[in-house]
Amino acid sequence: MLAVDLEVAIVLLVVVVVIGYFVFASFAFGAGYQPTPRRSVETMLRLAEVGPRDTVFDLGAGTGAIVFRAARTYRATVLGVEVEPVRMGILRLRRRFGSAADRISLRWGNLFSLDFRPATVVTAFLWPGAMARLRPKFEAELRPGARVVSHCHAIPGWTPTAYDAATDVYLYRWPEARRT
Ligand SMILES: C[S@@+](CC[C@H](N)C(=O)[O-])C[C@H]1O[C@@H](n2cnc3c(N)ncnc32)[C@H](O)[C@@H]1O
Repeated sequence: MLAVDLEVAIVLLVVVVVIGYFVFASFAFGAGYQPTPRRSVETMLRLAEVGPRDTVFDLGAGTGAIVFRAARTYRATVLGVEVEPVRMGILRLRRRFGSAADRISLRWGNLFSLDFRPATVVTAFLWPGAMARLRPKFEAELRPGARVVSHCHAIPGWTPTAYDAATDVYLYRWPEARRT
């Protein structure tokens, strides 16, 4: 009887630690985790016309829904930046044991420290506050012709070139997004 109780207690402890870690990480690292749905990933990459000549930056790469699709199916060069260490470990394992590893770079750190100048396409599924903080950085660093695609949240003050309501995806072209 005591042994069963101990097993139950250990399982409960593990569950509490795992849930606690993810709640803590959401606040400590600035955002929660939710993979971009497959249909939205497709809309993002299709609207941005991603192809082999593109360098895609995925801001907050999670476990790689966008990173691996962009590199393996759309044949882009991709940089995924992710702040949360467990997700970064998963990303590294997926790159290690999958195809197109030579086209995929991963950076463990804060996306706001990244220099966006090499990107031709930026993808994001972040909280609204992050999109507002990103705007001045986009305006300072994006190269003309760069596209930004965001799932769920618009960039305040920018005008999208397209919006797909079915998958909740905004497409912006820089610098037209600022002028229109
Ligand atoms: C909603 S998830 C999107 C994941 C991924 N882009 C996808 O398509 O599945 C947001 C991710 O952004 C990461 N994140 C939030 N703030 C960040 C920051 N300042 N720097 C790097 N990553 C960040 C979170 O850890 C989380 O994994």
